[in-house]
Amino acid sequence: MTVSDAIRIRCLETIGEREIEGLSDVLIDCVEGGASVSFMLPMTRAKAGAFWRAMAASATRGERVVIAAEDAADGIVGTVQVIWAQPENQPHRGDLAKMLVHRRARRRGIGAALLTAAEDSARRAGKTLLVLDTASDDAERLYARQGWQRCGVIPDYALWPGGGFCPTTFYYKRLSD
Ligand SMILES: CC(C)(COP(=O)(O)OP(=O)(O)OC[C@H]1O[C@@H](n2cnc3c(N)ncnc32)[C@H](O)[C@@H]1OP(=O)(O)O)[C@@H](O)C(=O)NCCC(=O)NCCS
Repeated sequence: MTVSDAIRIRCLETIGEREIEGLSDVLIDCVEGGASVSFMLPMTRAKAGAFWRAMAASATRGERVVIAAEDAADGIVGTVQVIWAQPENQPHRGDLAKMLVHRRARRRGIGAALLTAAEDSARRAGKTLLVLDTASDDAERLYARQGWQRCGVIPDYALWPGGGFCPTTFYYKRLSD
């Protein structure tokens, strides 16, 4: 899938050191930009690399798909995941996670293209329901635009990267709709 001539969206079949570097750049930039996505400041390259190596191993085990947006000039500028692994009574559900676009690549439609690719990937895998939670107003507008249903807010769910409680908002989307 192509957002523009310069951006390509693809499922990462193998995640090697080159991809881990690019994905780490995006994660570090988002956390340093204030995104509440599991990590606290200081956001080191070691923490980011360890995270993506664990994600690569999980993807190899077939537990999730990692999707990347690549700029012809800059390499990986965005990413999102769909986690397949669920309890045996939820085979139809996936969790959308770690939707991240580097600050220098935002507001060009890359987030929307990653979301469409994640939904398409879930449909191909036979999933009929996706769930996510977010602490980002920018992300909330994106999900609402693409037909996700807002469920509600849990206060004090996590911490901002610099400290202090942040709420999270849950969303779902029925892929059969
Ligand atoms: C949320 C996030 C992924 C959105 O990524 P993005 O690539 O900027 O998303 P898009 O470009 O599709 O949409 C963003 C905005 O740009 C606008 N836009 C899209 N293409 C555009 C273009 N060509 N020209 C101008 N504006 C454009 C969209 O309409 C949208 O506008 P809005 O802010 O008024 O709603 C990004 O802000 C991010 O990584 N945030 C930090 C990490 C985070 O919190 N992630 C959520 C975890 S669930």
